[in-house]
Amino acid sequence: EPKKLWGGRFTGAVDPLMDAFNASIHFDRRMYAADCIGSIAYAKALAKNNIITEQERDQLIGGLEKVMVEWENKTFELKAGDEDIHTANERRLGELVGSVAGKLHTGRSRNDQVATDMRIWLREEASSILAHLKELISITVNRADKEMDVLMPGYTHLQRAQPIRWSHFLLSHAWLWQADAQRLEQLIDRLNVLPLGSGALAGHAFNIDRDFLAKELGFRGIINNSLYAVSDRDFVAEFLFWASLTMTHISRIAEDLIIYSSGEFGFVKLADAYSTGSSLMPQKKNPDSLELLRGKSGRVFGSMSGFMMSYKGIPSTYNKDLQEDKEPMFDAADTLSGSLQITAGVLSTMDIFPDKMRASLTADMLATDLAEYLVRKGVPFRETHHISGSAVKMAEDRKVSLHELSNEDFKSLHPSFDDDVAAVWSFETSIENRNTPGGTSKSSVTAQIKQLKSWLADG
Ligand code: ARG
Repeated sequence: EPKKLWGGRFTGAVDPLMDAFNASIHFDRRMYAADCIGSIAYAKALAKNNIITEQERDQLIGGLEKVMVEWENKTFELKAGDEDIHTANERRLGELVGSVAGKLHTGRSRNDQVATDMRIWLREEASSILAHLKELISITVNRADKEMDVLMPGYTHLQRAQPIRWSHFLLSHAWLWQADAQRLEQLIDRLNVLPLGSGALAGHAFNIDRDFLAKELGFRGIINNSLYAVSDRDFVAEFLFWASLTMTHISRIAEDLIIYSSGEFGFVKLADAYSTGSSLMPQKKNPDSLELLRGKSGRVFGSMSGFMMSYKGIPSTYNKDLQEDKEPMFDAADTLSGSLQITAGVLSTMDIFPDKMRASLTADMLATDLAEYLVRKGVPFRETHHISGSAVKMAEDRKVSLHELSNEDFKSLHPSFDDDVAAVWSFETSIENRNTPGGTSKSSVTAQIKQLKSWLADG
């Protein structure tokens, strides 16, 4: 029966089921590097304060580096009693360096240790997720640049509304992702403060140099209240919300592309690499990648709401409920990392069908432009809206397209109509008229591409 780290006051054995229930090693082992790095810095800080000798410090650091290598080489052997990554690493350190290992935990608790490990882990992981997100934005922006001249219907209520550039549509998603990236950067900065040196809850009894620890571990500062330091998991909640919101954005473009890839639309076709077939219907090619992206958004929301439920009723300060913070954090990080890469893959390999998009543009989508034609002749917009509406009705009644009405028909609706009304029936003109910043004209879309590219280049 291995000795428990905390077993001093216990005489009875723990129920084996309880042991398994209590263990977190099967998931928190992912933080092995953060745990070793944190301990190495801690050993340095202990020596700095003469709590251990420099020789003891070097023994501890040497041992911790070996522990880390064992994890990396997958030779670390877990033993009964390794309830979490902290106990496993300390047990192994003892085997490697002997009794000096027992000095490492002086003044430290797993409470400030685990909070530190998680912040180190998440800050690294979030940085790699951020790189995937920026790659996705870059792919989208490049595609928008290349396919600038493709025109398509823009929709509201999934009804054809006004002609737009395909690039404008692509960039609308890139802008959402840029905001996601900025939020993630801010979140990483916010979480990057140090809990270590707070002890179990009340603070450190050996006057450890927390600023030194923060510097060693790359934190921008320390958390200034030990109770707060060991109980705060707002950074997990924030990350889970960030992940949920970002998945909402991914889910929404996935839904757009699922619709656009249907036979009825036929605007896009996914590469084989991101599609699957049917086991029964030979003709089928299904956009499974997009459906999984849409579906996985639900999984991430679940992680967020599940964690919030565990988090909300906890009294001060550390309580074991907090061990429930890790699996949602890991799962959301994995899901985001995968989803961003799959979305990037779909977007970089997908074919588009400009002819099909163009063929879906109909003259009624220029009814606003018809109203604007009269505005340019001095008629108040509210009136022109009505007149254009009458033209739409006239065409509908005659079962013709709006642009098939004659000049005389238009003149019968309002005296300001002239023969130049024919010029309204150009989708290009409609698009180019919307050249205010943020619009769908070529110059506005080009400006957006420039803005996003320079943001990406800034880093
Ligand atoms: N595995 C624990 C967790 O994840 C580490 C902290 C344990 N602290 C304690 N007081 N039992 O929360």
